[in-house]
Amino acid sequence: MNARELKDIFVNFFITKGHVEIPSASLIPENDPSTLFISAGMHPLVPYLLGQPHPQGVRLVDVQKCVRTGDIDDVGDTTHHTFFEMLGNWSLGDYFKKDMIASSFEFLTSKKYLNIDPKYLAITCFIGDENAPKDNDSATFWLTQGIPQSKIAFLPKENNWWGPAGTTGPCGPDSEMFYWTGDGAAPQAFDPNDTRWVEIWNDVFMQYNKNADGNYVLLTKPNVDTGMGVERTTAVLNGFADNYLTTIWQPIIKKIEEISDKKYYDDLKAFRIIADHLRTAVFMIADGVQPSNKEAGYVLRRVIRRAIRQGKLLGIESNFTKLIAQSVLDNQDNYAGVYSELNQNTAKILELLENEEIKFRKTLNNGLKEIQKLIDRQKAVSGSEAFDLYQSFGFPVEMIEEELKRNNLTLDSVEFNLKKQMHQNLSQTLSAGKFKSGLADHSEIITKYHTATHLLHQSLRNILGPHVQQSGSNITRERLRFDFSHPEKLTEDQLSKVEAMVNDQIKLALPVTMETMKFVDAQKSGALAFFGTKYPDTVSVYTMGTFSKEVCTGPHVTNTSLLGHFHITKEESAGSGKRRIYAVLD
Ligand code: ALA
Repeated sequence: MNARELKDIFVNFFITKGHVEIPSASLIPENDPSTLFISAGMHPLVPYLLGQPHPQGVRLVDVQKCVRTGDIDDVGDTTHHTFFEMLGNWSLGDYFKKDMIASSFEFLTSKKYLNIDPKYLAITCFIGDENAPKDNDSATFWLTQGIPQSKIAFLPKENNWWGPAGTTGPCGPDSEMFYWTGDGAAPQAFDPNDTRWVEIWNDVFMQYNKNADGNYVLLTKPNVDTGMGVERTTAVLNGFADNYLTTIWQPIIKKIEEISDKKYYDDLKAFRIIADHLRTAVFMIADGVQPSNKEAGYVLRRVIRRAIRQGKLLGIESNFTKLIAQSVLDNQDNYAGVYSELNQNTAKILELLENEEIKFRKTLNNGLKEIQKLIDRQKAVSGSEAFDLYQSFGFPVEMIEEELKRNNLTLDSVEFNLKKQMHQNLSQTLSAGKFKSGLADHSEIITKYHTATHLLHQSLRNILGPHVQQSGSNITRERLRFDFSHPEKLTEDQLSKVEAMVNDQIKLALPVTMETMKFVDAQKSGALAFFGTKYPDTVSVYTMGTFSKEVCTGPHVTNTSLLGHFHITKEESAGSGKRRIYAVLD
């Protein structure tokens, strides 16, 4: 079974169980500045897991693009990836443990679906602690399905709990499903420490909301959130211990072999890092990330540079990233046709990669010259000098070390790491401060677009009706993008009415005022409040004349007259039941 088939049967299985398929959200979280990338299928659904009604109902299924960079240093082994696809299904206050476990068992073992012999399955459940009891219910439901007691292990929070780490939000015990990948029959008893048992699916039972004071409060309506990694599950179902042997990766690996004139087995690590990182870069660029020195752009730059660096180790001296990217884009079976953003942005993806590669190769060459100067000068390079090279040239540490080694010198890594640590602490403090303010960029133009977004939101509601609800907002210095619930394409007439209504409010020079109040009072006062990861008890409410009132973190301009002229540039679908508008201020 290849990845495409796995994704299709998963989605179709849950559709037969009354679920609605929702499209993958962008990798870039909308209106959640606390994190750079979507890292799990549940992430874009947090507002709905907290009780906001989802426009598609209470049963959802999807394939979500995810990026996790926390264990980037592990990439190069058989299973870690920075980008991956996650299959997931959700019950928003609808079915719970019993039905979910029955569905999981059916999907895993039925001949119509994954057809896994139950003997090759093992399960973990939450053992219980001072916050929540042992999850005997889940274990009982697995027993009912025919999983023997000897294949069910109870583990603590580190293993069997999903939810916010140290923060507030929905969370709960989970039950993970493991598949035996060892040779021969699976052992009678399950040993969760035996790595031949590989986790393939996670059913999270979100029963609690973790409060700011650290208490776990039972939700009135508990949810189900599940996650199955496409890359890993495809590999184990095909009997591969190495994810890169599946058809998701093989076209990329073949391309690297062709360009480097080396074989995959000559340098597994380099091949895997190149394949993984450049696939990630392709998907990030398709979702609008550009290489830069901060935030998501920095992560993108880092994966591209790491890939080039590994290419150099394989002896690739000519620009190659765009050739690898093309092999990702050409993977018709797995991506093309599904993620239209890849097709729409092909030219941009290839161009950005090539430019970044040209730039980085120059950096590398300049850095090498600088290192040489240091080496010639003094026969010893201090950790602090090496750090300056690393910081000002973006020169990879391991390359600095290699160059020194070639000259029989060593790096004072203690001093180097100390410097690096100090630098990281400083940047973390800086970015934490910025994230706290709620918005990534407070420049004048961004602020204007925020204000214009409120006017657009209210105008759409006035003209199309109160069913219009904001479902996403994304602002750059060039434009605003606004997603909202509406069943059909807007007519030319509706679009010009909306545009005119926004421009009228600008001409009316409405004062923009802010007051803070309790969130419940804000709702009572009729302020629009549709999403945000979680509203605090006290919120800011922005009012524009008598036209618009919304809960928002701001900032906004002080008067709508400052916005200039509002112009809608594009209207398109943003998935079923959702529309997207792009607009500019000029
Ligand atoms: N949210 C759960 C996970 O990512 C399903 O594993």
